[in-house]
Amino acid sequence: MNKLILFCFLAIFSTVLCINNGVAVTPPMAFNTWNHFGCNIDEDLAISTMNKMISLGLSDVGYKYFNLDDCWMAKERTTNGDLTSDPTRFSKGIKYLADYAHTKGLKFGAYECMGTKTCQGYPGSFNHYSQDAQTFADWGLDYIKMDWCYTKQNNLDPRVVYPIFRDALNKTGREIVFSICEWGVDNPYLWGKQTGNSWRTSGDISCKWDRMQYCIEQVIGRSKYAGEGGWNDPDMLEIGNGCLTYNEETSHFALWAIAAAPLLIGCDLNSIPDSSLEILKNTEIIAVNQDIGSVPGDCIYKKDEKQIWKRKLSDGSVAVVMWNTNIESQDLEVTWEQIGLSCQTATKVRDLVEHTTYNNVDNGWKEISLDSHAVKMFRVYC
Ligand SMILES: *[C@@H]1O[C@H](CO)[C@@H](O)[C@H](O)[C@H]1NC(C)=O
Repeated sequence: MNKLILFCFLAIFSTVLCINNGVAVTPPMAFNTWNHFGCNIDEDLAISTMNKMISLGLSDVGYKYFNLDDCWMAKERTTNGDLTSDPTRFSKGIKYLADYAHTKGLKFGAYECMGTKTCQGYPGSFNHYSQDAQTFADWGLDYIKMDWCYTKQNNLDPRVVYPIFRDALNKTGREIVFSICEWGVDNPYLWGKQTGNSWRTSGDISCKWDRMQYCIEQVIGRSKYAGEGGWNDPDMLEIGNGCLTYNEETSHFALWAIAAAPLLIGCDLNSIPDSSLEILKNTEIIAVNQDIGSVPGDCIYKKDEKQIWKRKLSDGSVAVVMWNTNIESQDLEVTWEQIGLSCQTATKVRDLVEHTTYNNVDNGWKEISLDSHAVKMFRVYC
């Protein structure tokens, strides 16, 4: 088919069709091993982290999934061609861990890759899509992230092969969150919603301010493609990894929340600083992320190292993030007209970071002084 026709076809249908697998109605909230641990993972880490998700109260505020990223596999498939876990680091097997998660009220996920190998060189899923989907279902997995390494030599087209894996998951009959990770290279926002529950919009995040800003800016203008069951994914959180300041970690969380991005914790829960834990457990910000039935937020103003983001929420209130991306402090302002509020005077403005309330605020906020890389996040009610 002519590329342009295919493109238009996908663009039109992406807004009406979705994966329809009943999960990720709101953005997934999870722990994932990659950002902090890379390949240094084993079953003790999985068990202790799941226990921490519960004892630190993270599961209570919505983080239900524990997800293994790359490197959980044995170097070779079994003689039947089945995937199997590393015999030393995961000697009890993945089903044992998934069962453990379920007895604790958690959910369990893992990682594979559409190509011939995973990014770290473990067996890839290519030529085994149905077999692997069935294995994941048999193990009781609830979430699967499919990466995009080693796809070049077979000229794989993500718009073709990700739907094949989606259908293989569907055939198992198990409801499994399907996370597409092709790094945003083939306009995944145009075909992502009918294919998966989330799609990465960029290459990997790293624990650096500039990279975090870059990743979130790749979702600007793309809120309209996402919604119930399918989400833009600017990659996992770096909060708690010690490389961002308190203001930077707060802005990281506020922006991911308002953009309705998956909230995927990526630090060591055995040594997470209290201030980072408090950010991840901010239930007023999580409520903006998990709002049911509304389109994700987006950037409505970006100039002079100042950004304004807004998300209209299902109760009629509007969430606002004012973000100073400058290295110096500066003043920001926002008008109620700008954020589409239907009244001149807001009866209530709730500061979601400070947890304070202001009543009867006319027209907007002026001269909000923000430190370098800091945000203000409000929820504004008519
Ligand atoms: C499989 O797809 C059908 C059709 O979209 C849907 O109704 C069903 O819920 C799906 N099942 C699972 C387990 O995803």
